[in-house]
Amino acid sequence: MLQPMAIANWKMNLSRAEAAHYFHTLTQLPPLSRVSVVITPPFTMLDLAGQHLSHSGYQWGAQTLSGWASGAYTGEVSATMLQELGVSVVLIGHSERRLGHHEGAPMLTQQLHQALSAGFTAVYCVGESLSTRQEQTHHQYIDTQLREVITGLCLSDPQQLVIAYEPIWAIGTGVNASPDDAQSMHKMIRHTLADLLGDSMASRIRILYGGSVKPDGVGALMTKSDVNGVLVGGASLDPHTFYRISSMVSEGRS
Ligand code: PGA
Repeated sequence: MLQPMAIANWKMNLSRAEAAHYFHTLTQLPPLSRVSVVITPPFTMLDLAGQHLSHSGYQWGAQTLSGWASGAYTGEVSATMLQELGVSVVLIGHSERRLGHHEGAPMLTQQLHQALSAGFTAVYCVGESLSTRQEQTHHQYIDTQLREVITGLCLSDPQQLVIAYEPIWAIGTGVNASPDDAQSMHKMIRHTLADLLGDSMASRIRILYGGSVKPDGVGALMTKSDVNGVLVGGASLDPHTFYRISSMVSEGRS
């Protein structure tokens, strides 16, 4: 059975004081088992995450990383710098990076290689716009997003890669994909992964759903066989709500 995963994507939210309070609150709650729980705060709070979450069972991660190892790249943060902060997970290709920062397949491929070389778990995010879904071309669209970055990848361990399916129309909108819609897309994603990486590897790669995840919908999502956890934005900003979501992911593991 795959160990499910719950990731808190804070995006560009919370102050250092709020972050410290959040980490403190989380670590006072009973420890969760049978679920990998990851917090991805802004870069400037990763040191705080390390101070509070070391030996807690929680992991911390980055919301993006540089596609280059080092050098004259103003504003970039390298995999090595993240290693120094104890990071073990990194998000790659979130739609807010793809759209707002024009990160396309060549850059995301470089980022994925940087993340894997550093030994991080890379969470590769994919998702279609509302117009793509309305045109009924969403399966092909996601298939292409996977192939253009994962083709040729050589994984030794399925834990190294996680796919997060986040339909853009569901992010921050309060509208989420139905559990059946998520399952249908996740099944197709696993099929594409099997084609690229082999059946055995594909069956052990976690596929998360993201987009307006709230405690209410998690139980139903987790009954679906290809949903192996959630990536949570807005609802992850409150530690109690995120803890509740994570415990439901643990209980309802698929
Ligand atoms: P949301 O964000 O839960 O606020 O919709 C999810 C994400 O963008 O990762």
